[in-house]
Amino acid sequence: MKNIVIIGTQWGDEGKGKVVDYLAENAHVVVRFQGGPNAGHTIVIGENKFALHHIPSGIFQDHVTCVIANGVVIDPVSCYQEIAQLKSQGFLGDPSKLVISPYAHVILPYHKAIDSGREEKRGKDFLGTTQRGIGPVYEDKVVRKGIRLGDLLDTDKFRNKLSPLLEEKNFYLKNFLKKETFDLSPILETYLELGAKLKTYIGSPYVVLQKAFQNQERVIFEGAQGTLLDLDHGTFPYVTSSNTLSAAACVSSGIGPQRIDAVVGVVKAYTTRVGTGQFPTELTDSTGEFLQKEGHEFGTTTGRKRRCGWLDLVILKHAVFTNGLTHLAITKLDVLNKLEEIKICTGYEYKGKVFKDLLENTEEILTYGKPVYETLPGWKKDMTQMNHFSELPSEALDYLKLIEDELEVPVAFVSTSPERTDVLLTESGLAFK
Ligand code: GDP
Ligand code: IMO
Ligand code: MG
Repeated sequence: MKNIVIIGTQWGDEGKGKVVDYLAENAHVVVRFQGGPNAGHTIVIGENKFALHHIPSGIFQDHVTCVIANGVVIDPVSCYQEIAQLKSQGFLGDPSKLVISPYAHVILPYHKAIDSGREEKRGKDFLGTTQRGIGPVYEDKVVRKGIRLGDLLDTDKFRNKLSPLLEEKNFYLKNFLKKETFDLSPILETYLELGAKLKTYIGSPYVVLQKAFQNQERVIFEGAQGTLLDLDHGTFPYVTSSNTLSAAACVSSGIGPQRIDAVVGVVKAYTTRVGTGQFPTELTDSTGEFLQKEGHEFGTTTGRKRRCGWLDLVILKHAVFTNGLTHLAITKLDVLNKLEEIKICTGYEYKGKVFKDLLENTEEILTYGKPVYETLPGWKKDMTQMNHFSELPSEALDYLKLIEDELEVPVAFVSTSPERTDVLLTESGLAFK
């Protein structure tokens, strides 16, 4: 198993960071391929907890080269802060271990102002974005006006692109959103300075990837957000502004799909969502509250409480299909330890019929369908001392078996705590070692 895409199968925060960090031990390159600082990937190493927003989760392995590919959007202010913090914590001693594409688009102050201004204007219909400027920066990219990281290295080029663009943004901010406008000079000055600071890290992802492929070295492609937040295949408009599916790894990094040997879908053992939008298995009762508390379900980026609910096999089938999942990594199984019984959604009742997948009428079923549950007994056992998959309680094994059987994808990894070492490998997982 050489090159692996790791993807979120739900609405984000499945534990992708932990899984990438775990697998990075046996990898040479880790590539972030979409999204930006809307992501928050947590890695726990002993007493230390790290939250990454731009930097790939391979950064804690000294031998790994981390790449930020073309399709990522970068906030130079917070990206530079993230790098400085990692350096102060003893990581990234060798600057050549981080390579950021000059073609990644850059989030500027007006993107964030437009993001929050639009949310305000939407009133009760707000999307619940992270307000990091993600929608507005991808919008500029698609209309071919965006500023890219490489532009910050050339004063004239940056000024010539920014000046007309800022005029347009200010018009929109002032007249439509009724917000403060921005002056050209301070942006130019600040971002040219940031460009100079980030220059050491700017390089070609193609070069790193070509070398890794030639040397038969393992590359991990790290997804952000999750399948149901995908711009084309998620719960539109309550989605993010990039494609979060496995295929985006190829488009963003500029590689062919034949390079990918495995697609690992990270599945939280229950479901969470931050922000607005459909969530059929959401629990607004004491069980939902239990999952929120037991799972410490607060957003890594915004600190918002995550909405919680039962595991939903119907949306997971959608993730299996749209990502071509070859393996599953189940995380946060331990959060269910104390429950008497556990429900799992196996279908949706819609217009008098039970739908087991989302192949047709996807949006209608997700919006109006009523979940159909199967109830399984809980295991009521602690997992902290378990080192082998076979040591899991039989009820937990049955829960995992039901997931595997319904999705027809093998479970390769089971995570039982936030700590990097607490991962149980199944028979299928051994192929990744
Ligand atoms: P990501 O965005 O997919 O990387 O996920 P986040 O880092 O935003 O959220 C996952 C949270 O769950 C983090 O706080 C992790 O430390 C934590 N976590 C990951 N795996 C496990 C697990 O198996 N058990 C528990 N209890 N927590 C976990
Ligand atoms: P990771 O990588 C969970 C959600 C926001 C909002 C919607 C649009 O940590 O899993 P945006 O700011 O992207 O325009 O917001 O997407 N969202 C996430 N939810 N985890 C994330 O990333 C998210 N990134 C964006 O809450 O509902
Ligand atoms: Mg997260």
